[in-house]
Amino acid sequence: MIFFLNFILITGQRSKATDATVHYSFDYSQQVFYPQQAQAVGPMYFKTPRKCQCFGVCCESSGTQIFYLVDEAFQSVGKGANSVTSMLHHHFSHLGYGERNVVLHMDNCSGQNKNNAVIGYGMWRVLTGLHDSIEFSTMEAGHTKFSPDWHFGLWKVRWRNTTVNTLEDVVETVRLSSRNGHNIPHLVQDPENPVQFYNWTEFLKPVFKPIPNLLSYHHFRMTSDKPGIVYVRRYASDAEEAVKILKKDSFVLNGMPPKLEPLGLSAERQWYLHDEIAPLCNSLCASTCPRPDVPKPTK
Ligand SMILES: *[C@@H]1O[C@H](CO)[C@@H](O)[C@H](O)[C@H]1NC(C)=O
Ligand SMILES: *[C@@H]1O[C@H](CO)[C@@H](O)[C@H](O)[C@H]1NC(C)=O
Ligand SMILES: *[C@@H]1O[C@H](CO)[C@@H](O)[C@H](O)[C@H]1NC(C)=O
Repeated sequence: MIFFLNFILITGQRSKATDATVHYSFDYSQQVFYPQQAQAVGPMYFKTPRKCQCFGVCCESSGTQIFYLVDEAFQSVGKGANSVTSMLHHHFSHLGYGERNVVLHMDNCSGQNKNNAVIGYGMWRVLTGLHDSIEFSTMEAGHTKFSPDWHFGLWKVRWRNTTVNTLEDVVETVRLSSRNGHNIPHLVQDPENPVQFYNWTEFLKPVFKPIPNLLSYHHFRMTSDKPGIVYVRRYASDAEEAVKILKKDSFVLNGMPPKLEPLGLSAERQWYLHDEIAPLCNSLCASTCPRPDVPKPTK
């Protein structure tokens, strides 16, 4: 098999590299709306305030969870495969442990296309030497404990009880939701360590094909010594089957995917926030519902 790798290795991970297999779990929580008044059902109830999505990556061994916070102005990439893989990529590049072998636990609700893209991304990591082995596991029926939900639950308790005016306040609700600092907020537009979104699906599509009947399997394993092969199992106790996901035996994996830049809020949304939401909160939420500098759309 010939393949050509011309890839810039991300440095700074290796120094922390660990031989142990590290387990991470990831998922989205329900999105939140802000500004909000603590424990109050007021006039805001009938409105649609500014949205913030949250994607959690939990490290099972440290018991900490990174909360990626995606403000509405950064949501144009959506909640699909490109967002998930971009945030996982940021996590491995900047916030992971630099481990060589990883198990990633995920929910079984995310669907075939998203899971195929995430598995393709895992294969890309293995082929480019960023990991030696990666296993993806979705929850088997009867296993009810999923760590991200536990961390999200702590946050939800804090959230309900807090008045939130700005995105900085959202960040604080995450930080303060765990007394021992196990919930760690990370804004995607963090000035020092921003998340770059990429079109991973476009990048991986020419190289990998989808796994047939993906949703019937719970476990997917890939290693650098078996390039392009995913070992799938329905249940942990089943024997593995090998599935080749390479489209061709010769391929090029060059550089990084095309970048996706956030589109910001539409003019309509900006004016809605300004006209409908700003009057319901005080000057503290000025940065959440600012006066738009785009013309108001005419209906
Ligand atoms: C909610 O907030 C109030 C007032 O700040 C505080 O007294 C109470 O302990 C909080 N409850 C929870 C569950 O955090
Ligand atoms: C990503 O690439 C796909 C396939 O080329 C394309 O259809 C899609 O529009 C791209 N996504 C974005 C947000 O540009
Ligand atoms: C995962 O979820 C899908 C759709 O919700 C379902 O059809 C499938 O049977 C589930 N797979 C497993 C292995 O539980």
